Amino acid sequence: MTTNETLFFRDIRPFDQLRKVILPHLAEARAANRRIRLWSAACSTGQEPYSFAMIIKDIGELLNGWRVEIFATDLSSEALDKAKVGLYSQFEVQRGLPVTMMTRYFKRTEETWQIDSAIRAMVTFREFNLLEDFSRLGSFDAIYCRNVLIYFDKETKADILRRVRKILPDDGFLSLGGAETVLGVTDAFKPIDNERGLYAPA
Ligand SMILES: C[S@@+](CC[C@H](N)C(=O)[O-])C[C@H]1O[C@@H](n2cnc3c(N)ncnc32)[C@H](O)[C@@H]1O
Repeated sequence: MTTNETLFFRDIRPFDQLRKVILPHLAEARAANRRIRLWSAACSTGQEPYSFAMIIKDIGELLNGWRVEIFATDLSSEALDKAKVGLYSQFEVQRGLPVTMMTRYFKRTEETWQIDSAIRAMVTFREFNLLEDFSRLGSFDAIYCRNVLIYFDKETKADILRRVRKILPDDGFLSLGGAETVLGVTDAFKPIDNERGLYAPA
């Protein structure tokens, strides 16, 4: 039984890592083709990939002129329908979203808050089951597979992580949720020193 529980900038650290570790690394390492692909692999109602998009908009110059693709998938078509519309309640925008981001990227419409169309346009949503083959998705520079592996048994977790490894380059990044780890599950990834929840291909 899974839940769709999520929030903007959930746990904050993974989003600081995107801003301070992942994107600066990729800005150097991908300078030749100026292309980055990020995958939010269980995006629920969209707060996680939209948080990526707000960070990318915010850092501006570093990736000006780059093609940054944010691919966001989930098993739940209901969650994705909500994600695509980008309308959130007062409660949802109050959870995790810094006030500066709220005023910059949301407009109030009666009872709800509408995310900016430019932020919405940065994210591609698609229904996808993590138990399916990943090979047709192409490769990604960073994969956020957060707060979903907890619902699977150890073998399934290991299988998903093995397949995640196949679509990450050797300098790619994997982010897991606070209650998730690769330790004791797979040796395809190793923890990155001093960056809790962030893993590199082994
Ligand atoms: C708790 S939410 C996590 C959302 C977000 N990643 C976060 O950390 O806030 C878990 C999500 O995993 C999705 N999910 C569960 N099983 C899945 C599967 N087999 N493939 C893809 N998504 C799945 C659920 O629909 C739900 O939206």
